[in-house]
Amino acid sequence: EALDASDQLTDILAIPEHLRDALWKVESAQIEPQDCPGGVVVAGMGGSAVGGALARAILGDTASRPLIAARGYGLPSWTTPDTMVLCSSYSGNTEETLACYEAAGALGAPRIAVTTGGQLAKQARADGVPVIPVAGGLQPRAGVAYMTVAALQVAALCGAAPRVTSEIDVAAEHLEALVMEWGPEGAEDSLAKSLARSLHGSVPVLAGAGLTVPLAYRWKTQINENAKIPAFAHELPELDHNELVGWAGASELGRFAAVFLDDADTHPRVKRRIELTEHLISGQATSTHVIASRGQTTVERVFSLVLLGDLVSLYLAVLRGVDPTPVDAIESLKAELA
Ligand code: PA5
Repeated sequence: EALDASDQLTDILAIPEHLRDALWKVESAQIEPQDCPGGVVVAGMGGSAVGGALARAILGDTASRPLIAARGYGLPSWTTPDTMVLCSSYSGNTEETLACYEAAGALGAPRIAVTTGGQLAKQARADGVPVIPVAGGLQPRAGVAYMTVAALQVAALCGAAPRVTSEIDVAAEHLEALVMEWGPEGAEDSLAKSLARSLHGSVPVLAGAGLTVPLAYRWKTQINENAKIPAFAHELPELDHNELVGWAGASELGRFAAVFLDDADTHPRVKRRIELTEHLISGQATSTHVIASRGQTTVERVFSLVLLGDLVSLYLAVLRGVDPTPVDAIESLKAELA
C-alpha cells in the first residue's frame, strides 16, 4: 500500500521515459555548439549535482576535456572564461547554484541553465543564457535522468566529449526490462527486493570503484533521502587503506551492511580487492553484497545501477514504514537560511 501511494515509485519506474524526454528537452533549447577548451563545470547540489558526476562516469576516457561536478558556493579555481558552466538546479532556487551562476558571469564564462524554473530560469532568461527545461512535478532527486542527459549533451556541444544520443535511446529501451524485473511487479525474490530486505535494520555502507564511485554516492544519498536512514559511501582501492581497519570495530557500535558496486570495467586488482575485502569484513558486517552493473554501454551500466539503487532505497522506505517523498529536514534548513 505504501508503495502504491508513492509518487517516488512512479518517478523511478519512469527513468527510461525520462531519458528519452530529456533528449527532446535538450533539443528544444536549440543551443548553438560552442567550443570550450576549458571543459565543463556542472554546478549543482544534491539530486541536481549527481547528473554531472554520472555523466563523467559514462564518458570515461572518451571525454577529451575536464567535466567536473562542483558542489558548493564557488567554481573550481581552474575555471576560465573558456569553461562552460552548466548550472543545474531542479527548483532553480538553490543558493549555492545561484552563487555559481553569478561567479561564472563575473568570470565571463559561458553559461547554460538546466532547471524547471525558479530564480535561475528567471535570471538566465534576463541574461540571454540558454535554459534546458526539465519535467516538473518531480522530487529533485527523481530528475536524475534529465540532469545527466543535459550534462552529456552539453559536454558534446562544447567539444568536450562525443555525442551519446543513440546510446541513451538504446539504454532507455533496455532499462524497460530491468524496470519489469526489479519493479514492484517483479518477483518477490528479485535482486532489488531481496537486497532491501537484507539491508533493512543495518546502516548501509556503499563502496564504488571507477565508474561506480558516483553510483555508490547516489545509493547513499537516495537511501538517506528516501529511506531516511544514515548510509555512507567510499571508494576502492582507497578504502582498503583506511576504512577497512575501521570496519573491525563497527559491529560494537551498531549493525552495518556492506554493498560493493562492481562493473565490467573494474580494474582486475580492484576486483580481487573486493573479494578479499568482503571476506575480511564478513565477520563484522550483518551482510555483504557484490552487485554488478548490467548492460553493454556505459549509459546502460550506469543507469542499471541508478535504477537498482533508487528501487532499493524505496523498498527500504516501505520496510521502515516511512514516506519516501518528503525531505522535511532539507526544507526546514533551506527555510532557516532564507
Ligand atoms: O533531492 C533533493 O531534494 C535535494 O538533494 C536537492 O536536489 C538539493 O537540495 C538541491 O535542490 P535543487 O535540486 O532544487 O537545486
